[in-house]
Amino acid sequence: MAEQNILLRMEGICKTFPGVKALDNAQLTVRKGTVHALMGENGAGKSTLMKCLFGIYSKDAGHIYLDGKEINFKNSREALDNGVAMVHQELNQALKRNVMDNIWLGRYPKMGSGKLPVVSEKKMYDATMKVFDELGVKVNPKTVMSTMPVSQRQMVEIAKAVSFNSKIIVLDEPTSSLTETEVEHLFEIINMLRDRGCGIIYISHKMEEILRISDDVTIMRDGQYIATRAAKDLTMDEIIRLMVGRELTNRFPPKDNVVSNENIMEVQGITAMYSHLKDVSFSLKKGEILGVAGLDSSGRTELLENIFGYATRKSGKLFKNGKPIGNKTSRESIQNGFALLTEERRATGIFGILNIQENTVISSLKKYLNYGFVLSNKKMAEKTKWSIDAMHIKTPSQKTKIRSLSGGNQQKVILGRWLLTQPDILLLDEPTRGIDVGAKYEIYQLILDLAKQGKSVIMVSSEMPELLGVCNRILVMSGGRLAGEVNADTATQEEIMTLAAKYA
Ligand SMILES: Nc1ncnc2c1ncn2[C@@H]1O[C@H](COP(=O)(O)OP(=O)(O)OP(=O)(O)O)[C@@H](O)[C@H]1O
Ligand SMILES: [Mg+2]
Repeated sequence: MAEQNILLRMEGICKTFPGVKALDNAQLTVRKGTVHALMGENGAGKSTLMKCLFGIYSKDAGHIYLDGKEINFKNSREALDNGVAMVHQELNQALKRNVMDNIWLGRYPKMGSGKLPVVSEKKMYDATMKVFDELGVKVNPKTVMSTMPVSQRQMVEIAKAVSFNSKIIVLDEPTSSLTETEVEHLFEIINMLRDRGCGIIYISHKMEEILRISDDVTIMRDGQYIATRAAKDLTMDEIIRLMVGRELTNRFPPKDNVVSNENIMEVQGITAMYSHLKDVSFSLKKGEILGVAGLDSSGRTELLENIFGYATRKSGKLFKNGKPIGNKTSRESIQNGFALLTEERRATGIFGILNIQENTVISSLKKYLNYGFVLSNKKMAEKTKWSIDAMHIKTPSQKTKIRSLSGGNQQKVILGRWLLTQPDILLLDEPTRGIDVGAKYEIYQLILDLAKQGKSVIMVSSEMPELLGVCNRILVMSGGRLAGEVNADTATQEEIMTLAAKYA
């Protein structure tokens, strides 16, 4: 690589946390005007490496050069002032404040001069609109953050990063909560920034995205540097091999569950009160893995939320084992043997200050009682160990605070929590989002194991290969209605797409 084209060089970076060597001689070289993907399994050290660059963590060893000059930011403010911006994996916004406050916090455009400059609302509004117009973001700067969907909040965060006129922009899993249209929009923004000569560091577990958007790819494993390659010379299998360190022959375990003829649940004409979900009827068999496909806002999440009582039903009936059930509240649904893994796990599922064991057992506490009222530490430890082993959760101990785990490993803990409630009917909304390829296989295996024990699973996913690879049958939603169903063993992606477009 010609030296003058190099924007960022990180060398020999080491970082140790209590019990974990997160970075072990890691390196990264980013060229001007390129998108550089950073890849690796959950816990490989991607976010930590970026936090060392951004001044959130201080590195134990190594050197960082920006435009040939050695830098060592002490905090994120300094990084931003020197042209490095980062959109974090976990959004950290002032939810009660409005959009423009979130963008200009700490650097408000001032009016007047002298000793008491005043913050100018108007300047702030205009400056925000300027950035939004340039990026094509359609959000009112005066909207309060908490009233916006996560995907829009994510776009605001991206706009904020761009507003610093940075040379380097780090995007840590930016698309995990974006809709397909928003992803396309983000890719346009990224291309624009690339044309301006920015270096964009892009972290994602979505292989298709990586191969599409990036110029170079760096792969890390266990905190170490493995390789940097041009994206055009890489295949998906090659990336997986470099990430996992061995050949992954199958992406899906053998579908060897036996679906019984017996219905465990029947859904009749469910219509939602506050969404466009309309007149959905279907049945679920014992031991069946039922997929739900559809485009964004086709009603997939709403369907799960209505069944679980998170959202209010206007009409419709539910039956379990032939008997009518209410499932009007989540509490009632849990008593009826249901569990729901929500899509927004980071926002709703994680108790950051609690440790892994506490986060794991919190929804199944009754199962760990001795004599009916004393919590058994031994039982809780056993079950937590099961969850850690089954999903290869990367942690020094069960007593580690969940917030010090990598993003993907936090997700696995929450999935383990719901698996341990031993539900008869498990509702999963995007269960493998943010999870690396290797660990996905383990999660598919756990889903299959449940089905083999005679439990039933309904699983929403935007990844069609995953639905076809894991499910027995797939329902296809379109415009809030059920557009049809297909046999997952024989259906094609095209068939599903055709159904998904039916009422869209
Ligand atoms: N603040 C912290 N305290 C203790 N350990 C930490 C902390 N931050 C990260 N780690 C540990 O460092 C390792 C690397 O984590 P990191 O978040 O960098 O992984 P990642 O590659 O971003 O993974 P993911 O794909 O799951 O986001 C993990 O073992 C993690 O538990
Ligand atoms: Mg991460």
